[in-house]
Amino acid sequence: MTVHFKQDEPDNSNRLDGMKQGVIGKPLPRIEGLAKVTGTAPYAAEYPIENCAEGVLVTSTITRGEVTSIDRTSVLSMPGVIAVVDDEKLCTRAAQGTANEAPMQGPAQVCYWGQPIALVIAETFEQARDAAKHLKVEYREDAGAPIDPGAVEPEEQEDETVHQGDLSHAMAEAAHSVDVTYTTKGHASAAMEPHAAIAQWDGDKLTVHASLQMLNYNITELADALDMEEENMRLISRFVGGGFGSKLGISEEVVAAALAAKQIGRPVRVVQSRQQVFQTVMRRSETTQRLRLAADENGKLTGFGHEALVSNLPGETFAEPVLQSSHFMYGGENRELMLNVARIHRMTAGSVRAPGEAVGMPALEGAMDVLAEKAGIDPVELRLRNIPEQDPEEDLPFSSHKLAECLTQGAKAFGWDKGPRKPRQRREGEWWIGTGMANAARVHNIAEAKARVTLKADGTALVETDMTDIGTGTYTILAQIAAEMLGLGPEQVLVELGDTRYPRGPGSGGSWGAASIGSAVYIACKAIREELAARLGTSEEELELRESKTAGGEALTDLLGGKDLAREGHYEPGDIEDDYTASGFGAFFAEVRVNHYTGETRVDRMLGAFGFGRVLNAKTARSQCIGGITWSIGVALTEALEFDPRDGHLVNCDLAEYHVPVHRDVPDLQVLLVEERDGAASPIQAKGIGELGMCGGAAAIANAIYNACGARLFDYPMTPDRVLAAIPD
Ligand code: MOS
Repeated sequence: MTVHFKQDEPDNSNRLDGMKQGVIGKPLPRIEGLAKVTGTAPYAAEYPIENCAEGVLVTSTITRGEVTSIDRTSVLSMPGVIAVVDDEKLCTRAAQGTANEAPMQGPAQVCYWGQPIALVIAETFEQARDAAKHLKVEYREDAGAPIDPGAVEPEEQEDETVHQGDLSHAMAEAAHSVDVTYTTKGHASAAMEPHAAIAQWDGDKLTVHASLQMLNYNITELADALDMEEENMRLISRFVGGGFGSKLGISEEVVAAALAAKQIGRPVRVVQSRQQVFQTVMRRSETTQRLRLAADENGKLTGFGHEALVSNLPGETFAEPVLQSSHFMYGGENRELMLNVARIHRMTAGSVRAPGEAVGMPALEGAMDVLAEKAGIDPVELRLRNIPEQDPEEDLPFSSHKLAECLTQGAKAFGWDKGPRKPRQRREGEWWIGTGMANAARVHNIAEAKARVTLKADGTALVETDMTDIGTGTYTILAQIAAEMLGLGPEQVLVELGDTRYPRGPGSGGSWGAASIGSAVYIACKAIREELAARLGTSEEELELRESKTAGGEALTDLLGGKDLAREGHYEPGDIEDDYTASGFGAFFAEVRVNHYTGETRVDRMLGAFGFGRVLNAKTARSQCIGGITWSIGVALTEALEFDPRDGHLVNCDLAEYHVPVHRDVPDLQVLLVEERDGAASPIQAKGIGELGMCGGAAAIANAIYNACGARLFDYPMTPDRVLAAIPD
């Protein structure tokens, strides 16, 4: 029995707070933690499938043009080689981003260097890799494909454009104004587990073990790519070693494995090499962002401008949504916002770790620091003065807004000095030391979700959904929600995820996972409680369940009478999405040291204070925030995709040359979870948290670099060479 709930109104009943089991919000360790750290949790490529052949992708070595021939005979006689797959379906960019209706490019249209064009299948991985290297491919190359975003006339994304009032006039009249341009480099998702798939056919039925974030959507993509019915397909992703956006959509290894397995009548495994993951899957666009801020003598914004240039391949629908939080972060009645896309022939740009705010907020919050300095106002105070009453562009209230609390509580916990700020005030030997801060914001996303909860006759519970856990803690928080609602210990709840045989979840992306699927589980549990209450002749609201018993001492197992009780919860966001502007907010504080002679920056400590609705598990929530802050260190200091200016191919395509922060780069990070319930965000009053921790943190570091050594930089990442060149003598 399915219970459908469409949310049109805020739900401020805070039901989860009134339950008696007392497990919701508790810092429980991950249910699957032991399996993961002992190596017994199987990842996509690790399923022991009998008679499995190995496939290796062959990728394009031209930037734009056409594959004119693939000479299979060049490799078919090599040891162990079984076949070459160059089906036109494989050569399409099937889908590599959220709901990306990417164009089908036809059999062999190449549009970026590194695009998969064929698959070689052999008995062993080494044989397949060797043959893939030797496969003879001929191309007709189109000269002059643009690969530099500055080289083409950009397209305006009109739905992002805002013209309100007269910004130029506001800038001219302002007591204080800032007009600065920031750049950010491209980023790689850099998930630990490479993209991998094993495909098996049983007649016309296909099963694929793959590493994916959104099975509900991926199965539709794969069905489209293979021209099949979803009913004949099963996707399994029980454990995912990180996705960070790169596994929101299927990529070529999934399609290739399925085609290959069909062609040779055997299961086929395809694992992308680390270099292929970097060069073929997708990237975050580089950005150029002009910020204009006009303020009165009290620092209150009267004008706000944010114009950005990003890039993607021709025809792609995704454009790094740089302005996402700029639309509502600050007031200023005179507004100019614009997002432009340059069509170039680098690999596909898609969602990477907090698409939009991850790079938009560091630019905006850097500019705010410049304004604070010009106006002579403490940066925390400047931000407090500029919190808008409601959405400054649309006539909408905020669902809830804890920025002021994050700023004041964060400043206190960090020991923020509100005294006058001047750069170069502290030096220890070679090191300049300084502090900086920045706001955090990340839109709250929510998605339709279904989950089945079964209260078993033996008094345990089972939760089933095709939702994924990409390292975020989904298994654990769903057990906690069900346990809280049904009066069980969390160890009495078995959570089954990552299999399209289960009800369709929302997938993991855009930080919507926990609030969306958590609400579906909550709805299912509420329906079970209603049935139990009816059996007791009471109401669901009155029903008290704790430690497998009712308040009256009746055992759950007796109430069940030897029968399972199952309900499917179906959550759907309704009108509520149009009635409120919903976002997580927060504040970052950083202390850094900058070496006077080498320009090296080290983060000494960082604190993030965040408000994102109900905390479902204090430990997994904190871990999400710590991960986010760590990413923000990468944005600030180290992460940058470098493209060869001749053919646009990605040069630094491994973890030795693409620098994500490692342990030595990350100090002890402090996280403050600010208490909040947001009934307009979801029925469980939770908002997204996965990405908030990275949205703006880079600016806290950049602002601290300036405060430390006087180097005001506008280009991320702030590598030693850039810092050194900007340190005043
Ligand atoms: Mo996220 S970058 O939407 O997985």
